[in-house]
Amino acid sequence: MPTRQGPASTITVSPDRCTRQYKTLDIALKRNHYQPDALIEVLHKAQESFGYLEDEVLLYIARQLKLPLSRVYGVASFYHLFNLRPSGVHRCVVCLGTACYVKGASQILSRLERDLQLKVGETTADGEISLLSARCLGACGIAPAVVLDEAIAGQQTPESVAQAVQTWSIHGQSSSLDAPPASPERR
Ligand code: FES
Repeated sequence: MPTRQGPASTITVSPDRCTRQYKTLDIALKRNHYQPDALIEVLHKAQESFGYLEDEVLLYIARQLKLPLSRVYGVASFYHLFNLRPSGVHRCVVCLGTACYVKGASQILSRLERDLQLKVGETTADGEISLLSARCLGACGIAPAVVLDEAIAGQQTPESVAQAVQTWSIHGQSSSLDAPPASPERR
């Protein structure tokens, strides 16, 4: 069984995890000189590489940065941008920042929770769709904004987002992402 070396300790990992993803993480750790202050940056890189932050990866980072696992887990679970579970094939992120909230973001979220029968932060049972929220997407000028997979869509309504998400369910792809324009009352 392979082991991974670092200045902090040696940790045993399962063979199938000893991959390109860990090499990418190792590069990030080395670039940051294994400094505990680099925790968030390292977590970013880990999520980018692994897709989400599973326990084994958090433990590895904790040991490499000489940090308690509780601290690493605490930071990873505090920030919305980090996922501790695998996300669905499609991701819908509803912005709940102030500008979006006052323009109806909570209604968008409620509609999606009702349609998908899940709570924010969860993934549908078939693993197709994850529903997430964010504080601000940096697109306040087109509030309310959502991210549908990688695309930001502005001036959304509960109906327009529900329609886009429904398209994922029906066609298995995000073909409607560029569709729903602003409804007149939101302009
Ligand atoms: S508050 Fe939603 S994009 Fe800024």
